[in-house]
Amino acid sequence: MSDTLILGIETSCDDTAAAVVKNGHEVLSDVLHTQEAVHAPYGGVVPEFASRVHLETVDSVVREAITQANVQLAHLHAIAVTQGPGLIGSLLVGLSFGKALAYATNIPLIGVHHLEGHLFSARLGTTKIPFPHIALLVSGGHTNLYAVQSYEHYEQIGRTLDDAAGEAFDKGAKMLGLGYPGGPLIERLAQSGDPNKAPFPLPYPSKQSFDFSFSGIKTALRYFLQSSHEHHPDTTPADIAAGYQTSIIQVLMQKTIHAAAYYDISDIIVVGGVAANSLLRATMREHATTHQFRLYFPELRYCTDNGAMIASAGWNSYKHRIFSPLNTEPFAKQRFRENQIHCPQKEPQLDFHHMS
Ligand code: KG4
Ligand code: ZN
Repeated sequence: MSDTLILGIETSCDDTAAAVVKNGHEVLSDVLHTQEAVHAPYGGVVPEFASRVHLETVDSVVREAITQANVQLAHLHAIAVTQGPGLIGSLLVGLSFGKALAYATNIPLIGVHHLEGHLFSARLGTTKIPFPHIALLVSGGHTNLYAVQSYEHYEQIGRTLDDAAGEAFDKGAKMLGLGYPGGPLIERLAQSGDPNKAPFPLPYPSKQSFDFSFSGIKTALRYFLQSSHEHHPDTTPADIAAGYQTSIIQVLMQKTIHAAAYYDISDIIVVGGVAANSLLRATMREHATTHQFRLYFPELRYCTDNGAMIASAGWNSYKHRIFSPLNTEPFAKQRFRENQIHCPQKEPQLDFHHMS
């Protein structure tokens, strides 16, 4: 079979990214223009600025991806673009650019679900990910658990009821006065801290489900900071960052390991921006080994948003000849696929106490 070349374009939030990927996993180029410096002074993404910067940079980022891949535009089999969910203004820029390019070149357009892109990120490079697997998708906007039977059939088995884990990192970092994006900053500060000096409660919405909740731990951090001079005079900001981070990561690890055991699935992938966190990687590895699960992470650069994962998801649609019309619209909110499988409802009986 001949090689399939897909261009992937990602502009759902604050990164303008494009990549060319061969056969769904071989990354020929991967270009990223980060807007961190634009949003950092505001402690979070300013949607209006994000779409403006995408507009200014998308053309050069896509050109650079094609040049670095050393391919001709005419050799591309499809143009895959993030269609949603995300910031509507940001999505509009990337999708409109993709549509115009598809129209001008007569190359098929494929609208990609951003979360499917993350699910494909673990297979970039040489790793073959077996099916079925459990996927923990942990990013700035989502904290979801999936039972993935195949790329066409997967079921969401858990989600956050309020804030995503990445959001908890970002808001926590803001409260600690660290800046944006918060995840890497909390991780760095926590390295010199002692989590036992600032213990936080483990945020479980319910022990009977695979859902998450991270808004309570944010409030716990606020109270901790307000009272730390009085009640915890010798804790440092590094101790607080370490305690906060440990608590978030323990819950992510425990629910994922329990989901794998409950569904009797022995392969686990962890994807999304928070999957770059080294404590999460180490904690998951330790427990996966103990409980005899096989664990896969994307390379660090494919954890956070990137064009390669969008091209990879686009390749799967291309294989099934699923294309998008040129009048397709972006969508801001999560939309579920119609062909997700639905496992029979069983009541999970979880016991988190024996794990730590
Ligand atoms: O996947 P992503 O790039 O964008 C979304 O789809 O949301 O994830 C961004 C999120 C941010 O909340 C950021 O703080 C978090 O991932 N993140 C991290 C780390 N690197 C990025 N969180 C914890 N530790 C990290 N090293
Ligand atoms: Zn993302």
